[in-house]
Amino acid sequence: MNISVIGTGYVGLVTGSCFAESGNDVCCVDNNAAKIDILRKGIPTFYEPGLPEIIERNLREERLTFTTDLDAAVKKSLVIFIAVGTPSASNGAADLSAVFDVAAAIGRAMDRYKVIVVKSTVPVGTSEKVRQILKKETKQPFDLLSNPEFLKQGAAVEDFMKPDRVVVGADDVRAAEILRDLYAPFVRTGSPVMIVDIRTAELLKYAANAFLAARISFMNEIANLCEEVGANVDLVRKGLAADSRIGPAFLFSGIGYGGSCFPKDVRALIETGREHDYEMSILKAVDTVNTNQPARFVEKIRSHFNNDLSGKRFAVWGLSFKPRTNVMRDAPSIKIIESLLSGGASIAAYDPEAMDEAKKIFGSRIELSISNYGCLEGADALLLVTEWQAFRNPNFERMKAAMKSALIFDGRNIYDPTHLKPAGFTYYGVGLDSDSAG
Ligand SMILES: NC(=O)c1ccc[n+]([C@@H]2O[C@H](COP(=O)([O-])OP(=O)(O)OC[C@H]3O[C@@H](n4cnc5c(N)ncnc54)[C@H](O)[C@@H]3O)[C@@H](O)[C@H]2O)c1
Repeated sequence: MNISVIGTGYVGLVTGSCFAESGNDVCCVDNNAAKIDILRKGIPTFYEPGLPEIIERNLREERLTFTTDLDAAVKKSLVIFIAVGTPSASNGAADLSAVFDVAAAIGRAMDRYKVIVVKSTVPVGTSEKVRQILKKETKQPFDLLSNPEFLKQGAAVEDFMKPDRVVVGADDVRAAEILRDLYAPFVRTGSPVMIVDIRTAELLKYAANAFLAARISFMNEIANLCEEVGANVDLVRKGLAADSRIGPAFLFSGIGYGGSCFPKDVRALIETGREHDYEMSILKAVDTVNTNQPARFVEKIRSHFNNDLSGKRFAVWGLSFKPRTNVMRDAPSIKIIESLLSGGASIAAYDPEAMDEAKKIFGSRIELSISNYGCLEGADALLLVTEWQAFRNPNFERMKAAMKSALIFDGRNIYDPTHLKPAGFTYYGVGLDSDSAG
């Protein structure tokens, strides 16, 4: 099948590459010419395990092409995916200008029947607006579908290739069959292709992200209470996870969620509620708990140093918003580092993949070390911010020898205080009883 994917960001590039991998001819379009130049050389513009090999193979076998020419891409394609960004506008609502611009450009380029698929995460009713824009720009026949994407950064290729479910929003089920065929190679083990009405598909995506964000904020709230009452959130988590009605996923407490989806999608859903005079009270609390969580972590650090951070040097392990990605959008690391810097501290940081992103954000305001041990030299404390696998079993003796004081603030509860205390470390986790601090 001839396919175009408009927008070669995270979702568009993974979608286009994976559809090429299953034998389709895919043209990926972006209006960022520099990005297209890099992609044409087979180099992904972000870190994602498994993606470079797929891009390289499909470029070489000429199933995958990259262009800035939307008009030509639309003309040669039957199915066109819109996968441009929908960032937060200043009021928290989704900024849909890129989606609408692309819809108009597709309409102007259409020369015959097309299937247009909205893959970007968009508020309920957006696809209907896209339909109106298309109708204004073209007299050609088309079907419009909604096909929200559920992949997660860090496991995007795997998620796309083996989805838990594929959701297709369609007003005409015959058009939806085209997407069923396209996704057939990825759902051979029985994952459902759910065909629902368009508004339901649009809402389902937000509900999924909001629910996962709610689990995180819920556990962070319980962790905060654990600190107040002297309980241990890790044991609470295990007790909850063992309950088959609850299950183990997304129950880890820490310094809050970040990234390019949860924060903006929670806020956009709150805004959708407001537009319909319905207050999303649970989600407002989810957002508030998450906004406060990095500040609570900094408060713990401040209080250890009697509210005086001036001249203190902190080593930070992990900058990306989660492991296996270089994405730093809305990462808790940013708030934490900014707040420590404004208190007069200095920072030396290391992340396995996000160093270039960190350079863009902090410039020369923090030191970027070449290894995780490198940033420990003379540090007053280590802050574990992102739980990369490589940080889980470090050489604590080596760490202690490099650091000015053996002090760890563990924002993800990856270390075991019962091992660290005898090794001479003072340890603070999140939601652990006060005995944890040595
Ligand atoms: N990132 C994720 O993990 C994820 C997961 C599921 C869903 N989504 C949703 O998918 C959508 C895309 O997200 P993303 O993370 O890939 O965004 P992104 O910001 O990484 O990429 C968007 C791309 O669209 C391009 N673009 C913008 N305007 C354009 C135009 N007029 N013509 C051509 N290209 C244009 C940009 O240059 C950029 O490369 C969003 O709605 C997001 O919420 C993201």
